[in-house]
Amino acid sequence: MSQDVSNHPVPEAFAKQANLTPEKYAEMYEASIKDPDGFWAEHGKRIEWMKPFTQVKDVSWDKDDLHVRWFADGTLNVTESCLDRQLETRGAKPAIIWEGDEPDDSHTLTYRQLYHAVCRFSNVLKEMGVKKGDRVTLYMPMIPEASMAMLACARIGAIHSVVFGGFSPEALAGRIVDCQSEFVITADEGVRGGRKVPLKENTDRACDLAKGMVKKVLVVERTGVGVEMKDGRDVWLHEVGAEVDDTCAPEPMNAEDPLFILYTSGSTGKPKGVLHTCGGYLVWASMTHEYVFDLKEDDVFWCSADVGWVTGHTYIVYGPLANGATSLMFEGVPTYPSPSRFWEVCDKHGVTIFYTAPTAIRALMREGDGPVKATDRSTLRLLGTVGEPINPEAWEWYFRTVGDSRCPIVDTWWQTETGGTMIVPLPGTTKMKSGAGSHPFFGVVPKLVDAEGEVLEGATQGNLIITGSWPGQMRTVYGDHERFVDTYFSAYPGNYFTGDGCRRDEDGFYWITGRVDDVINVSGHRMGTAEVESALVSHDAVAEAAVVGYPHDIKGQGIYAYVTTVQGVEPSDELKDLLQKHVRSEIGPIACPDLIQFAPGLPKTRSGKIMRRILRKIAEDSYDSLGDTSTLAEPEVVDELIDGRQNKA
Ligand code: WTA
Repeated sequence: MSQDVSNHPVPEAFAKQANLTPEKYAEMYEASIKDPDGFWAEHGKRIEWMKPFTQVKDVSWDKDDLHVRWFADGTLNVTESCLDRQLETRGAKPAIIWEGDEPDDSHTLTYRQLYHAVCRFSNVLKEMGVKKGDRVTLYMPMIPEASMAMLACARIGAIHSVVFGGFSPEALAGRIVDCQSEFVITADEGVRGGRKVPLKENTDRACDLAKGMVKKVLVVERTGVGVEMKDGRDVWLHEVGAEVDDTCAPEPMNAEDPLFILYTSGSTGKPKGVLHTCGGYLVWASMTHEYVFDLKEDDVFWCSADVGWVTGHTYIVYGPLANGATSLMFEGVPTYPSPSRFWEVCDKHGVTIFYTAPTAIRALMREGDGPVKATDRSTLRLLGTVGEPINPEAWEWYFRTVGDSRCPIVDTWWQTETGGTMIVPLPGTTKMKSGAGSHPFFGVVPKLVDAEGEVLEGATQGNLIITGSWPGQMRTVYGDHERFVDTYFSAYPGNYFTGDGCRRDEDGFYWITGRVDDVINVSGHRMGTAEVESALVSHDAVAEAAVVGYPHDIKGQGIYAYVTTVQGVEPSDELKDLLQKHVRSEIGPIACPDLIQFAPGLPKTRSGKIMRRILRKIAEDSYDSLGDTSTLAEPEVVDELIDGRQNKA
């Protein structure tokens, strides 16, 4: 790293008002490790139970009998925590502040309004025939109806599967089919950065591709553009919604009944449906939200993620609402209409806690201090980041320029699989080092291991594992329990393998160094190299493709694709364009290769295995340290690849 690591004490004014102290953290952490059952029996009560649990934890990480159950004899409906219980004291409190794509477009929903809207939405779903346990796919823009749709599913016991609105019809269809979802909720169009996204049109195409799987499509009117409505299949929310009741009894759910599926990329094959259940997830979402963000009653909390990702699930919807907080939801992008937009929104709504991704910080940093300094930001008291390692330069800029050296930064390491934050410098409890994930959250025991599974002690670097279950842990891969076991519990038997590398320094701070598997982290979004490769080879011109990540100034990692063409097809710039378009339509813009290198052949071992290590080095433009190439079948391929590399310094 190019800059010295700074040590920052907790800013004094912040420390004075912090909910936690270093001592309190140490005490709670110790309690959570020494007596997990006692600790979680207590903290499990933070959410609303219809029938309280008496069992706390029933977990086995043994490969032959792998199961994860928390609070397993309790009954609840998560929306009672998020809505009903807030009505008495917070009925008139803003639950959602919505800021539209255009700066003059915003409105607020109080807890009472949200409660009734969700009840109405729930009744609409019932009218459509949605039942407990059914999978409902959401393909939505960032509008309050996205949160309502999630909560409405939860209220009636249906399982939501949110698919990011930037995914293509093909990707949407794949996810619909994988979880056999007969219902889709979408909008006529989405709006982002002044551009329209044809969500309904994409949905129609996905329904065709899913060949009769989808029985009903519920459409929310966002822009009012005319869209085609298919008779008998498509219904408008505002039409059916006007005729139903605004109360709806919450469905009693077992703590271990599924709450949602969220597809995420892995190192092999298709995206997998990460399954979270009701009780443990909500305990984890609400507890991490409260402690990580030093939550106070009058905070205005803004998580800038999209609800299509887990960050949006946990820290726009479930965590904040279960805590009765005010959650800001933003439809647009950081740079529209100007690079001051984030900070203008903070001023407009009095945002006190702001949580975003390093990629957004780096993009804004490039615009200089001017657009930040043109705004006030005096309401901000805490900043957060998530999604990828933050480089010290970006951290320092975020701290000094955005936060005026007044706001601590919580760098939260976690994953779709973990449900909520796992490693974090809890504000007020620790000095901060720019770029360090720092310390485990309550109940989390991280360890570093080498490739053989040997546990490494002291200041060291290795693969990051977690040694015991926590309530927010994913329960399985939907429809493929074996894949769950193989992916997370086979590398280091008895432990959860994160897929991340990590360093621990002399002070015991954890520093996440990034994925050690074939997952690329593009702008904080996970992309499996195998997925991009299979999209590329599905094009007629492509014989073989290998995809790796390379360092990218703004995105963190960019996508670098090596492509060999089929006989008779000549590489050309036009073909590059075509292939990029092809990947966009197969998966979506986030999967589009930044760089494509045509290659006469790929470096392989004599047994035919592609040597990715070499491809990664060439893509990083650090090919002078290629290491041993003597095991290659055709070593001369490497020289040709180096000559044709696309990322020359
Ligand atoms: C990476 C997002 C460093 C990591 C919540 C992880 C991070 C993957 C951080 C999960 C962080 C997330 N510092 N790396 N603060 N947060 N990551 O499932 O590689 O979209 O495994 O969950 O993002 O991405 P996912």
